[in-house]
Parts: sequence; C-alpha cells; structure tokens
Amino acid sequence: PVLAAAAVIGGYLLGSIPFGVIATKLGGAGDVRSIGSGNIGATNVLRTGRKDLALITLLGDGGKGAVAVLLAWLATRAASADVQAAATALAGASAFLGHLFPVWLGFKGGKGVATFFGTLLAAAWPVGVLAGATWLVVAFLFRISSLAALVAAALAPAFVFLVGRPEPIALMALFMAILIYVRHAPNIRRLLKGEEPRIGGGKKADA
Ligand code: G3P
Repeated sequence: PVLAAAAVIGGYLLGSIPFGVIATKLGGAGDVRSIGSGNIGATNVLRTGRKDLALITLLGDGGKGAVAVLLAWLATRAASADVQAAATALAGASAFLGHLFPVWLGFKGGKGVATFFGTLLAAAWPVGVLAGATWLVVAFLFRISSLAALVAAALAPAFVFLVGRPEPIALMALFMAILIYVRHAPNIRRLLKGEEPRIGGGKKADA
C-alpha cells in the first residue's frame, strides 16, 4: 500500500509538470494555451513556430512519464515481477493523469500523447517503439498529429500482447488509450468534418 501510494503520488506530481506552458513562457513565445487548439502539448507549441520549444515540450512531457516509470521500477527491483509490473503501470498511469489534470493549471491539462509514449518506452520499450513508429507512419502519410496519436493509441494495447508484456502494462496502455480518445473529442469532430489542421500547415484551430 505504501508503495502503491508512492507510485501514484510521485507519478502524478511528475506528470503534472506542464513542459509546454513552461517552455513557451520561458522561451518568450507567450502562453501556448492562448494559441491554436489551446492545448499544452508539443503539437500546439509547434504552432508558435518554435520548433526548439516543441522539441523541449515533447522530450519533457515524454521524459516525465519515462522517469515516473523508471523510478517505480528501481524502487521495486527487489520485489517479484508481478509487483514490479503493477508498480510501474501504476506510476505510468498516474504520470499520464498528472499531465491531463495538473494541479498547477487548475486541473486543465493536456491530451497526454507525449507522456503516453514516454511511459510506454520505459515500461515496455518494444511497445513504445511500435507505437512511435505507428505515429510516424500516420503522421507522414496524413500530416495530422491527432490522427497519428489516435491510431497509435488504439494499437498500443494490442502491441503489449504482441510482444508478450504483463497484464498491468496492457491495462496501463488501454487506460491511457481510452483517455486519449476522450481528450481528443474536439479533434475527432474536426477530423470527421475534414477541418483538422495539418502539421506545419499553420492553420489555426479553435477548441
Ligand atoms: O498531442 C496532441 C495532439 O494529438 C493534438 O494536439 O493541439 O492538435 O489538439 P492539438
């Protein structure tokens, strides 16, 4: 129970660091929440025209998920494989929730895509690589960030089984995938109407 609480609280606090907001403010690009989709993620930071800040956001938001998982993994290295899988999954899911509902931003956070990739890479790297490759292929073909994320999220739980990782990791992937769909509701509506902006298109979306 102490371990579970530490994984949840530690994961949440790490995940709630909003790298997109911090990077745009410190980088002199204003507040990312007032441009484009209003989202705090790397895709929207890119709409400021600052690729450097978008990269920092991607690495920061992804990295915090990976760090949460790795800390839980280190803390449980003497425990059984089952306990270790459960603790890492709990920490990863908590970091993801921290990104979506950060206490620092009045619980108005992001859509979780970068953090999703970071936790998967740390918890089961082949799954993270497969999901990341899926994102890249869809983004290359359609040049739409949200569509790439939605396809990668849908496939991630299946990738966990494909590479034979434990059930808690599959549950973590499924949990994150469901919330990614919920958070992308405005994007899904725009996609269906053919109005979702393309990467590098510079077209502003309002949602
Ligand atoms: O990572 C979030 C991405 O999938 C969509 O972002 O800003 O286009 O809503 P945005």
